[in-house]
Amino acid sequence: MTTAEQHSTTPRTALVTGATSGIGREVALQLAELGWRVIAVGRDREALAHLAEASALITPRAADLLTGDLAALVPDRVDALVHAAGISPSTRVEDTANADWERVFALNVTAGAALVRNALPALRDARGTVVLVNSGAGTAARPRNAPYAASKHALRALANGLRAEEEENGVRVSTVYPGPTDTPMFGGDVDRRELIRPSSVARAVVMAITASEDVQLTDIHVRPRRELTW
Ligand SMILES: NC(=O)c1ccc[n+]([C@@H]2O[C@H](COP(=O)([O-])OP(=O)(O)OC[C@H]3O[C@@H](n4cnc5c(N)ncnc54)[C@H](OP(=O)(O)O)[C@@H]3O)[C@@H](O)[C@H]2O)c1
Repeated sequence: MTTAEQHSTTPRTALVTGATSGIGREVALQLAELGWRVIAVGRDREALAHLAEASALITPRAADLLTGDLAALVPDRVDALVHAAGISPSTRVEDTANADWERVFALNVTAGAALVRNALPALRDARGTVVLVNSGAGTAARPRNAPYAASKHALRALANGLRAEEEENGVRVSTVYPGPTDTPMFGGDVDRRELIRPSSVARAVVMAITASEDVQLTDIHVRPRRELTW
């Protein structure tokens, strides 16, 4: 089947990591609501089953991005790739072993890069969009988050380098930088009603994916209505 034939017979398709929780889960649900087919990736099989129950357009794919076959996760058609999976260890530099540095980079950066590499032919065919879910830590670092912040700085560089490489090929690249968001990842000591809702961050991701054909939304910062210090 030619690419054009394939695109006329399959709905727009997104590959979403981190789909079992928080921001990624909301992205999967919002895209399915818009009629997209969503390949939803995560390790938590129960959460994946709930997603599949929520929409027939969501195909669950149980995988550990640190050990799994990432190429096997990539469908033939990819209009959007969202890398929302992430871990956020809270450790001081003096206490962080090499293995811990490697794990946070492997998930937050390398897995995203590997998925992009495998999906690039399909993304080019579809003139698709890559969205890398970053963080306020992608531009600033605080005590006890240097490994996480370093990985998110690297993720920002991945986005910027990829965008420069792929603009000739029609692939656009967006970074979304959420502030403190009410998901299991956020353990800060704040009134959680002040946190950003994960669905609000997901709306920004979906906005990047569905932006007009003539533009790319390169960097989207999503901050709480009232800024938080924590
Ligand atoms: N929450 C915040 O305040 C905040 C702020 C700024 C940026 N962010 C960023 O937003 C993104 C989403 O975070 P979240 O807040 O939605 O966190 P979350 O609710 O904890 O979700 C994290 C996701 O990562 C997946 N994941 C973790 N390890 C994995 C592995 N080895 N293989 C595959 N998937 C794995 C988890 O799935 P399984 O456990 O099912 O594998 C889960 O779906 C992250 O990149 C995070 O850095 C969050």
